[in-house]
Amino acid sequence: MAKKIFSGVQPTGNLHIGNYLGAIKNFVDLNNDNQNKCVFCVVDLHAVTVAQDPKILRNNIRETVATFIASGIDPKKSIIFNQSQVGAHSEAAWILSCVARMGWLNRMTQFKEKAGKDKEKASVGLYSYPILMAADILIYDTTHVPVGNDQKQHLELCRDIAQKFNNDFGVNDFFKVPEPLIQKDFSRIMSLKDGLKKMSKSELSDLSRINLTDDKDQIINKIKKAKTDTLPMPSTIQDLNERPEAKNLIGIYSSLKNSTLEKTIQEFSGKNFSEFKEDLSQITIEKISPISKEIKKLLSDQSYLDKILEEGSKKADEIASKKIKKIHDIMGF
Ligand code: TYM
Repeated sequence: MAKKIFSGVQPTGNLHIGNYLGAIKNFVDLNNDNQNKCVFCVVDLHAVTVAQDPKILRNNIRETVATFIASGIDPKKSIIFNQSQVGAHSEAAWILSCVARMGWLNRMTQFKEKAGKDKEKASVGLYSYPILMAADILIYDTTHVPVGNDQKQHLELCRDIAQKFNNDFGVNDFFKVPEPLIQKDFSRIMSLKDGLKKMSKSELSDLSRINLTDDKDQIINKIKKAKTDTLPMPSTIQDLNERPEAKNLIGIYSSLKNSTLEKTIQEFSGKNFSEFKEDLSQITIEKISPISKEIKKLLSDQSYLDKILEEGSKKADEIASKKIKKIHDIMGF
């Protein structure tokens, strides 16, 4: 069945192998299936829920587009655009914020993590951010949303909002209730420094992540320094349960190889970590270096990237503004 795909990535810099394996790699596969209609959005409105330097933001928007294309998304097949250029996102977010309940938002764990101890000082946007995300998804009649595991709760909220809108206004099936596409084993890539913490763009230590723009030497160095334990490589899946760092590195290796945890465990069972790390560096360089080279090349042609965004925004706006017109009708505007 033809799927309507929507997903977004924040242009906050430092896109890393977690974003790639958890989300972007999946975008590419979905883009390659000719039956699908895909929309990939650089969510700049989401980025400004925390302070951004406008000049850096503008560059990061282009870098995110470059990353999409360098990873294999074809702008002729998929719509690539930035959220701020399609007004329907903000408008739908307002309307849906009148449908979503405070209690639902109060349960969002990502807000609690991001706001930290001083919630009073967090922006209102950071709090209502999942509603904007629901708007992004629902105005394109999206059927499937490829994301990493950290976005699962936001997608459940999106489903609740869609259903409540449909019920409140008696418009059965007006908003499609989207399905998350979350990969089984590789949907949560962890920090190279702490196997219990998610790999993140905002983590202070650059050694905690492999950025998609890292060169060969940086990759080798980061993998060499990645935390492991003192035991030899595990020989069963169960062995991984108490060994988060080993599990993470084996996960990264398996995902890059398009293999499974089981096969990787078999391949390295009983060997020591230094040997595994050499192979991990090699496959990482093999898969990531072509992307980072292509990102750099694309970034040298800003007008090309700007054109992709402009054309993508027009196409996205055509779809989204039709949905907004129907929403106006339903609401009595
Ligand atoms: P963002 O920009 O934080 O992350 C982009 C995508 O990368 C995934 N991801 C990870 N996957 C595995 N391991 C990790 N360590 C890791 N870190 C990030 C995220 O799950 C995400 O899929 N709110 C979203 C962006 C968004 C969106 C949307 C997504 C806005 N509107 C509509 C889907 C649909 C976010 O902040 O992603």
